[in-house]
Amino acid sequence: MDNMKHAIRFFLVILALSPAMAYAAGDAPHAPEQDWSFSGPFGTYDKASLQRGLLVYRQVCAVCHSMKHLFYRDLEALGYDEGQIKAIAAEYTVTDGPDDEGEMFERPARPSDKFKSPFANEKQAKAANNGALPPDLSLITKARHGGADYVHAILTGYEEAPEHVELLPGQNYNKYMPGHIIAMASPLMDDQIAYEDGSPQTVDQYAKDVAHFLTWAADPYMEDRKRTGIKVILFLLAFAAVMYAVKRKTWADQH
Ligand code: HEC
Repeated sequence: MDNMKHAIRFFLVILALSPAMAYAAGDAPHAPEQDWSFSGPFGTYDKASLQRGLLVYRQVCAVCHSMKHLFYRDLEALGYDEGQIKAIAAEYTVTDGPDDEGEMFERPARPSDKFKSPFANEKQAKAANNGALPPDLSLITKARHGGADYVHAILTGYEEAPEHVELLPGQNYNKYMPGHIIAMASPLMDDQIAYEDGSPQTVDQYAKDVAHFLTWAADPYMEDRKRTGIKVILFLLAFAAVMYAVKRKTWADQH
């Protein structure tokens, strides 16, 4: 009985504290919902947006953020052929070895290599970023509530800090970051990256494309999964129709 009382008291204390805890966790406004081609049961990725997003990642984000779970060959899903993938990989230099003399050596990356990380290890990454670790982006849309909407919101949510907020050097104010303080300075500017397909060269469009790309990276089999789901539902409908016909036929003569 005593145990029960303890449990209830504990529960009440947690309940009473929960608004305070939510406040401590930072009251960021909800990321505004964007119109994504991959939303909904029939949604698919937009290859042109994925390709532009890869460009944004490679030209801007890759300076600080790794994508350790991606291989260059995975880019086939974005509509690139073997030659194009080889050319993209070859723009990066990776360390391989040891060779016959026991030495490590450098060579151009190949399609079978993982995406090259900007830093050798987390300590180096932190040292280069005022002590803040740029998280690996391979799974970021799964790791953050709001997914693609959140990534888009962070990239477009930089603002002047309100007067009561004191920013330390290396801190920036972002409307959508939980707690509003973020170590990453706004990474995007209008006209920063040249798009060849005529898409708008705006922070908003860059943010949408890179969030689209990061969603694909975190969930490359989404389209297969949706297709399978639709097939299963069609099969179940057909099966139900057949069973209904069988039932009618079986019971047709019974009155
Ligand atoms: C100059 C380095 C740098 C560049 C360039 C950069 N970032 Fe960051 N980013 C960081 C650092 C450092 C953090 C950690 C911030 C923190 O913890 O306060 C971060 C955090 C993030 C986060 C996580 C925020 C959270 O919820 O914790 C996302 C998402 C992100 N970056 C996306 C991007 C994207 C997309 C790009 C390219 C458009 C980009 N970043 C470019 C340094 C960078």
